[in-house]
Amino acid sequence: MRKKIIAGNWKMNKTPSEAVALINELKPLVKNDDVDVVFCVPDIDIIPAVEACKGTNIAIGAENLYFEESGAYTGEISPNMLTDAGVKYVIIGHSERREYFAETDETVNKRTLAALAAGLKPIVCVGELKWERQCNITEEVIARQIKLDLWDVTAEQVKNVVIAYEPVWAIGTGLTATPDQAQEVCAFIRAQLAKKYDQATADAVTIQYGGSMNAGNAAELLAQPDIDGGLIGGASLKAADFNTIVQAAVEG
Ligand code: 13P
Repeated sequence: MRKKIIAGNWKMNKTPSEAVALINELKPLVKNDDVDVVFCVPDIDIIPAVEACKGTNIAIGAENLYFEESGAYTGEISPNMLTDAGVKYVIIGHSERREYFAETDETVNKRTLAALAAGLKPIVCVGELKWERQCNITEEVIARQIKLDLWDVTAEQVKNVVIAYEPVWAIGTGLTATPDQAQEVCAFIRAQLAKKYDQATADAVTIQYGGSMNAGNAAELLAQPDIDGGLIGGASLKAADFNTIVQAAVEG
């Protein structure tokens, strides 16, 4: 049985003091051993967030990292800076980074390898554009991303990778993939992992769905056999909604 992981992706929201206030509101609500809860927060919020989550079952994640250890890379943050601050997870290759900040599968792969080498759990985001789905090439797009993003990732390492299937057309649009659509692609991702590694390894990998997941649709999505959690944007900024999603994961 894979333990479900419900992760909030706060994106570019919440100042440090707002972050602590939201965490303090969420902490008593999401206290549950059956589900792993992660808040992926802006870099400036990491230290107060780690502090606020001490002694709880909530892990803090970053929203990106750079793949070098240190050096002249103005504005970037390294894997060991994150681990030293108490970060456990890091989102890699979110579609917003691919779209606005020129991330490619090659840099996603470098970041994934660097995160794993540092002992972080990367949440690697894959997903097709609306146009690609319309052209019926969703599986080709996903297969390519899995192949390139996980290049040189070993079977032992991939057990620490979380894959987030985030159809780009569903992000921030209110258009959620249907449970059948999401399950179909998550099962396809697992089949790709089984082909690349083996079935037991594929069965050990957590695959999340993300894209307009909310308090109303989470239960149905999380009940699907290959959906092991969620990566939640907008609804993770509202304590009650996020908690409803966590409770759906506890039951699902
Ligand atoms: P929304 O939940 O706001 O659609 O965002 C999803 C997302 O991008 C999570 O990484």
